[in-house]
Amino acid sequence: MYIIDAAEKFNNLYKNHKTKDIIVLGIESSCDETSIAVVKNGREVLSNVIASQIEIHKRFGGVVPEVASRNHLMAIDNVLNEALLKANITLKDIDAIAVTYGAGLMGALMVGVTYAKSLAFALNIPLIKVNHIKGHISANYIATPQLTPPYIALIVSGGHTAIVKVADYVNNILIGSTVDDAVGEAYDKVAKVLGLGYPGGPIIDKMAKTGKPSIKFVKHDMLKNSFNFSYSGLKTAVINYLHNLSQHGEKPNVADVCASFQAEAVGALVEKSIRACKKFKSKTLVVAGGVAANSYLREQLKNSGEQNNIEVLFPPMVLCTDNAAMIAAEGYFNIISNSGLADTDLTATPTLNLKYVAKK
Ligand code: KG4
Ligand code: ZN
Repeated sequence: MYIIDAAEKFNNLYKNHKTKDIIVLGIESSCDETSIAVVKNGREVLSNVIASQIEIHKRFGGVVPEVASRNHLMAIDNVLNEALLKANITLKDIDAIAVTYGAGLMGALMVGVTYAKSLAFALNIPLIKVNHIKGHISANYIATPQLTPPYIALIVSGGHTAIVKVADYVNNILIGSTVDDAVGEAYDKVAKVLGLGYPGGPIIDKMAKTGKPSIKFVKHDMLKNSFNFSYSGLKTAVINYLHNLSQHGEKPNVADVCASFQAEAVGALVEKSIRACKKFKSKTLVVAGGVAANSYLREQLKNSGEQNNIEVLFPPMVLCTDNAAMIAAEGYFNIISNSGLADTDLTATPTLNLKYVAKK
C-alpha cells in the first residue's frame, strides 16, 4: 500500500510542481554531522539544523565510524524536533523526505536512511534517495536563486575532487577527477603530520595566511594538460620534506609549509576548472563541497574568474560543509525531474559514486 500511495503522491508532486509549493524534509548523516532541514521549492531554507560531532572526534584525530553512528542515533530525534520548530511546521506539512544514502560511512548512513524510511512510511509520503555529492552541488541552488543548468561544477570534498558538466538537474558529464586522493583528504593528512589536529582543512587555511609559499613540493605536474588531479604525490612530498628536516634535527616553519602546500593544492583546482569552463564554453563555475569553504580557493577562483569573464559561485560557509538543506534541495530537483523515488528497501551505500552520462 505504501509503495502505491508514495508513487501516486510523487507523481502528483512532479505534475503540479509549477503551480504548487513543495516542502521537502532533508536528512543527512553520512559522516560526523547529524542534520535535518526543511526546504521549500528547493531554494528557500525554512530551517537547517546541524548537530556537529567535530568536538567528539577531535580527540581521536579523525572521525571514528562507530562513535559517529552512536552519536547520530542520540541526536537525530532532537534535530528533527528543532528543524520542525524552526520552520514553524508539523510533520503533516511535509510533502516528501529526501535522505543521503551514500557516499559515506556505513553505520552513519544507516541511521539517516532508517530514520527517513520510517518517517516516510509512517507519514505515507514519498522517500527520495540523494547522492551526497549531488547534494553539495545543489547547495548552490539555495545560494544563487537564478542558477540553472547547464554549468561547470568543481567538486572538492573530503572524498571527492572532480570537474563535471552539470547538464541538467539530474545528469552530470565527468570532465576530470582525482586519480588518487581527494583534496580534502590531503588537507586532513598534511594537518595530521604537522600535528595541527582535525579537521585539517580549516586549520591549514588559517595557518597559511601567516606563511609564505616558498617551498616547491612537486616539481612536475604529470597531469598538467588533462583535467585530472593527483594529491597523493603532493601529500607524500610534504611528508618527505618534514621527515628530511627532522633527520637533520631541524624544525619546519609550519606556516610556510601550510602556505606552500595550499598554493599547490589550490593552484591545480583553479587552473583546471577555469580551463574547463573555457573549453566547454561555460560562463558559470559552481564550487561545491567542504573545501569550497577554503578562503584561498575562494579568493584565487574569484580573481581568475574575473580575468576570464567567468562568474564563480560559492555557497555560503554553512552550506559548504555537510548539511541537510542541500540534501532537501537536491531531493526537490529530483522530484521536478521525475527522478529519485525510493522504496522502503533503500539501503545505505557507502561507496556510491556520481553516475555520469557520456561526454557529448
Ligand atoms: O564536504 P565535506 O564536509 O565532507 C565530505 O563530504 O567529504 O568536506 C570535508 C572536507 C574535509 O577534508 C575538511 O578538511 C575540508 O572539507 N575543509 C576545508 C575547509 N573547511 C573544510 N579544506 C580547506 N579549507 C577549509 N577552510
Ligand atoms: Zn560532504
